[in-house]
Amino acid sequence: MNTPRPIAILGGTGPEGFGLALRWAQAGETVIIGSRDAKRAQDAAQKIKQHVGPSAKISGSENIAACSAADLLVLTIPFEGHAALLKQLKPAIRPGSIVIDATVPLAASVGGRATRTLGVWQGSAAQQTAELAPKDVSVVAAFQNLGAELLNADGSVDCDVIVCSDDPNAGQVVRSLATKILGVRAIDGGKLENARILEQITALLIGLNIRHKGHSGIRITGLPQAAYDVM
Ligand SMILES: NC(=O)c1ccc[n+]([C@@H]2O[C@H](COP(=O)([O-])OP(=O)(O)OC[C@H]3O[C@@H](n4cnc5c(N)ncnc54)[C@H](OP(=O)(O)O)[C@@H]3O)[C@@H](O)[C@H]2O)c1
Repeated sequence: MNTPRPIAILGGTGPEGFGLALRWAQAGETVIIGSRDAKRAQDAAQKIKQHVGPSAKISGSENIAACSAADLLVLTIPFEGHAALLKQLKPAIRPGSIVIDATVPLAASVGGRATRTLGVWQGSAAQQTAELAPKDVSVVAAFQNLGAELLNADGSVDCDVIVCSDDPNAGQVVRSLATKILGVRAIDGGKLENARILEQITALLIGLNIRHKGHSGIRITGLPQAAYDVM
């Protein structure tokens, strides 16, 4: 069954957000691409429609309009714009929304290496989101370890998505959404504070990609089957 609500992907014109939008549009979800520029968002949506076909439920809007039209929000923006965009979006975020944060605070955001993360005062980018977002929303960390090259390629991805949140119900919604991406298994990774580990794994994966010239992802083995099942 498709999630009966639209997904707004803020920063969805970049490779990560675009790849998620593509995969969810292919799965029949309703997706709104957000951008600082409405035309750029509409162009990205059009590109996905051409790829998926005319039945794709995809549109593009400026970030604030996208945010106010959905209560499932995904942040796929570089860390340098993270806090400023959240402050801008805050009045438009609907009560009870789920904010899914895929942002990784790479040192590259401040001219450093993409193979290192920055120290974030709150512990992680996702915890920064929890501090800056309205109190009546649930923040979920996910997709940091699912690379854009894999999302934008054809076929199944060979990756697990670890989902961390202090709200188990929101975590469940996001695990269900993650499994709409062909090949993905979604695993409950516990509290939001574990997001800092997910964010650091991305820096490691980038280093592995450079060292071995590939597109790495992660698989978690050895857990009981129930850990991989999404209700
Ligand atoms: N790329 C990957 O493989 C990957 C994998 C996992 C996680 N991530 C994380 O996901 C996030 C997005 O990755 P990406 O590679 O798609 O990044 P990106 O291309 O650098 O940025 C994504 C979009 O964010 C918007 N943006 C750029 N600077 C901004 C700012 N200062 N304020 C507000 N919006 C801004 C841009 O859209 P508009 O100009 O249209 O507004 C851009 O297209 C990053 O935090 C990254 O670490 C990436």
